[in-house]
Amino acid sequence: MMNKRLRVMNIVGARPNMMKVAPLVAEMLRHDDIQPLLVHTGQHYDYSMSQVFFDQLHMPEPDYNLEVGSGTHHAQTAEIVRRFGELVQNDRPDVVLVVGDVNSTIACALVAVKEQIPVVHVEAGLRSFDRTMPEEINRLLTDAISDLLFTTEESGNRNLAREGVAPEKVFLVGNLMIDSLVGALDLARKSPLRSELGLQPQRYVVLTLHRPSNVDDRNQLTRTLDAIAEISRRVPVLFPAHPRTAAKIAQAGFADVKTWEGGEVPGAGVWMMPPASYLDFLGLVEQAAMVITDSGGVQEETTYLGIPCLTYRNNTERPVTVSMGTNKLVGSDPEQLLRSALELLDNSQLIGQKSDPVRPPLWDGNTAPRIVHILREYWQHQLVGTVQAATSS
Ligand code: UD1
Repeated sequence: MMNKRLRVMNIVGARPNMMKVAPLVAEMLRHDDIQPLLVHTGQHYDYSMSQVFFDQLHMPEPDYNLEVGSGTHHAQTAEIVRRFGELVQNDRPDVVLVVGDVNSTIACALVAVKEQIPVVHVEAGLRSFDRTMPEEINRLLTDAISDLLFTTEESGNRNLAREGVAPEKVFLVGNLMIDSLVGALDLARKSPLRSELGLQPQRYVVLTLHRPSNVDDRNQLTRTLDAIAEISRRVPVLFPAHPRTAAKIAQAGFADVKTWEGGEVPGAGVWMMPPASYLDFLGLVEQAAMVITDSGGVQEETTYLGIPCLTYRNNTERPVTVSMGTNKLVGSDPEQLLRSALELLDNSQLIGQKSDPVRPPLWDGNTAPRIVHILREYWQHQLVGTVQAATSS
């Protein structure tokens, strides 16, 4: 029996962190020997990018909010380092647990390792092998300084082994994001958004776009939206837009992108809407004919749900979604995107008929208990080590 509670400081910063940390904190709260703390860095701060996920995922209010807000990558990362550094000097946890690959992930891991606080990285080992992606740098660096690394798919274990990470630190545990999805699916199916939009199942496309490589370059954005407009002549395209994307579109002004202002969509067209809540988004995706995205997590959610996904990027750090799942990498060429989308829409067998999804190993909704079990074992082991060292000296 442990005589001290393990204090785990869990970090969330950006939207995709929320669905990973929520099931983990809930599982930790079921164990008397763990005290989960929740730190929000404030990297995302709009209600629709942050608080709505806390509400829908039943996450407790954060114990600390660092309120860093937006900025350049270096300014944002530096500010998180500074504020989180101060925090752990005042309230030192036993473990810092980070998820994913956002700036908050590397910033908090860096503080922890320098304070000699063990770092746990969930969703470790994913590699796009594209160092122009800010997330790839965050992933490489975080993994290099983590003490325990939890992976979602086999490729993660292989990548870490190749980088020289000791195998005893690495555990394939499955996908926390799927824990949240499994828990939310019934409610997501009841989301009123799809019927408010007047959409028939499998008769519309969902689009998300926010990678700097796709939205920051005006020429690429224009050509992409032209291709999407072409697709939308066949079926309505629903486009819950990330704030950075919405800002770029507003700056440039695209006649083909219409703003949804509530009610039924009158039919064909690209309909931009504010970022969707978690339940609304899942509800929309689950009934879509296909999804076009440059997000990481959406590739995984569509694989789990068996919805065809076209990933508008040259690479993916989540190869299992291609080898086993419904994901297809179409590159970043708008013409190829258009061809692939029309091909899918033409294939009537895919429309109106969902395939039985093949799901990657351990994407079963039970990843949080696996992680917490290993954390507790590890902690017991470490404690034994400390006690033995103290008595033998
Ligand atoms: C971040 C992550 C990315 C993740 C994405 C999910 C990094 C390096 N990138 O990118 O991996 O896929 O989150 O959403 O951490 N903004 C708002 N309101 C908000 C948050 C952001 O308006 O609540 C706007 C600001 O103009 C900001 C811009 O969005 O400058 C970008 O936000 P930022 O956190 O820098 O990166 P993301 O593009 O969201």
